[in-house]
Amino acid sequence: MAAQTLQSVPGEPTSARHEQSLEDAARRDAEGQAYFDKVMADDSRIEPRDWMPPAYRKTLLRQISQHAHSEIIGMQPEANWISRAPSLKRKAILMAKVQDEAGHGLYLYSAAETLGQPRDQMMQDLMDGKAKYSSIFNYPARTWADMGAIGWMVDGAAIANQVPLCRASFGPYGRAMVRVCKEESFHQRQGFEILLELSHGTPEQKQMAQDAVNRWYAPALMMFGPPDDDSPNSKQSMAWNIKRFSNDELRNRFVGMMMEQVKVLELTLPDKDIRFNEDTKKWEHGPLDWDEFHEVLAGRGPCNAQRLERRREAHHNGTWVREAAAAYAEKQSRKQAEKESAA
Ligand SMILES: [Fe+2]
Ligand SMILES: [Fe+2]
Repeated sequence: MAAQTLQSVPGEPTSARHEQSLEDAARRDAEGQAYFDKVMADDSRIEPRDWMPPAYRKTLLRQISQHAHSEIIGMQPEANWISRAPSLKRKAILMAKVQDEAGHGLYLYSAAETLGQPRDQMMQDLMDGKAKYSSIFNYPARTWADMGAIGWMVDGAAIANQVPLCRASFGPYGRAMVRVCKEESFHQRQGFEILLELSHGTPEQKQMAQDAVNRWYAPALMMFGPPDDDSPNSKQSMAWNIKRFSNDELRNRFVGMMMEQVKVLELTLPDKDIRFNEDTKKWEHGPLDWDEFHEVLAGRGPCNAQRLERRREAHHNGTWVREAAAAYAEKQSRKQAEKESAA
């Protein structure tokens, strides 16, 4: 931008041109900020080519790329069970579900790229351990019942988090979320159905379902992020219409939802402190181990190293596909250029 301004006033002394360019940049920023403020006040949308405050861009880039990484890493705990699914039908459903998660990652990387960072860079940051992703995917999936608990609770928590994001102020993010949420509700239902079948099966199957619910309950609740008084960025994200509800608000709502559904499953949630507070009209839950959350987030969870190793391996194995796709794209654009120059 500054370079264009310099070129637009040829012949003037350098210092005057420099001053002019600074003035122009300041004017553009002021106009951009006024437009951005109006969009926020109208609860409307910012698109990739619009002016946006650098901190807004940075926050979104971090959030959307972390979200994309979570979708891609999140394929692993379930992909491990595709070959061990108990029937052809279950295998087909699980494969479709895991493929959906790959699709979610791709929409989200595309949305993040519109903010100016190349996808290769995001991928590299993930593989170098520099980028974060949801801590839930660093827990192991021990039995088939975990496919049920993950679908019901992890995808369920993702829906509770993501439905409000369909109204996020950044256009590409909000639009990606609409499709993602439709698919997530299928994921949640298939998980619920797995648990329902197990909980109404033999006593061993019911116990397996209960055990999976017990293990995934707390990590699923922690997916909403730290408590509100320990979440410094939340306020700004809410002012920017990215986030619509606080972490605790969403978490409490989710607990209420699960309390109803767990009755149908004839299972229990491993939390004796869940209650509906008549005064606040909100659901409450027992204490969560936030030290564990921070440990897992810092890379010291049960499967962090394995997840990253697997991602690096998959990336390496996909090299020939990326090279072939790039060669094909280059060939097509060369053909197109030849056609145009012949015309
Ligand atoms: Fe997803
Ligand atoms: Fe999902």
